[in-house]
Amino acid sequence: MLIGQISDSHILPLGEKSHGIIDPAQRLLAAVKAMNAASPDLVLHTGDIAHHGTPEAYRVAREILAQLKAPLFAIPGNHDDRAKMRAAFSDENWMPSKDQATAFIQYTIDAGPLNIIMLDSLVPGEVSGALCKSRLEFLHAQLSRDSRPTIIALHHPPMAPGLDGFAKVGLQGADQLAGILEKQGQVIRILAGHNHRSVVGVCGGVATIVAPSCAFPFAFNAKKGASLSMAFEPPGAALHLWDENSGLVSHVISIGDWPEPKSLR
Ligand SMILES: [Fe+2]
Ligand SMILES: [Fe+2]
Repeated sequence: MLIGQISDSHILPLGEKSHGIIDPAQRLLAAVKAMNAASPDLVLHTGDIAHHGTPEAYRVAREILAQLKAPLFAIPGNHDDRAKMRAAFSDENWMPSKDQATAFIQYTIDAGPLNIIMLDSLVPGEVSGALCKSRLEFLHAQLSRDSRPTIIALHHPPMAPGLDGFAKVGLQGADQLAGILEKQGQVIRILAGHNHRSVVGVCGGVATIVAPSCAFPFAFNAKKGASLSMAFEPPGAALHLWDENSGLVSHVISIGDWPEPKSLR
């Protein structure tokens, strides 16, 4: 089984550019093409689908994402608007209806040998995220009722990337999540976005992979007090390959208009 991951597409109304430089629609289209070339069984979008969470941005995003050959599943990031995202994806059967016990956009995906738990870490008006009591209870309930190898996907990484630029944009409830994971043995990977870079860390003993943004990367800057800046590096995505013998192996890919791969034989 192959799971594709796209993150942080930051779509704007058609024709508008991210920070006046990058066309996020074009970049998302390139990510969709890269996914289609890899032929995953399903694709996860780990949030910040739209930059301002407007209906027009979601319309553009959906039009591009509709070109994915594999089924798409999405969760919100801090740039998304939960109500507008719910309205934009209301025809998808994974979208929880508003009258369900939780107003959050979180659900599980039955991925054959794997269970995928999609968590909503959005706090309206905040750049940082949270897993509150209700969201952690949802996670705990899902882990208790299904013992298959499990992937948790959420927008905000539950670990500090170690750069001052990200210091105040983390996840509240990360310690409680780690506590749950230490008691439940079936979680094999946490997938996140938000950092706009490929980052690997650990939460509760579980390997945590941050997928790069498919729109624009943030620069690596470990200097004390350094603020976030946009990097002119290639955008990217991630692919997670599951095999019963090897377990889950995660690959990060760069996205761009490269020449075709050259055979080394
Ligand atoms: Fe983002
Ligand atoms: Fe984000």
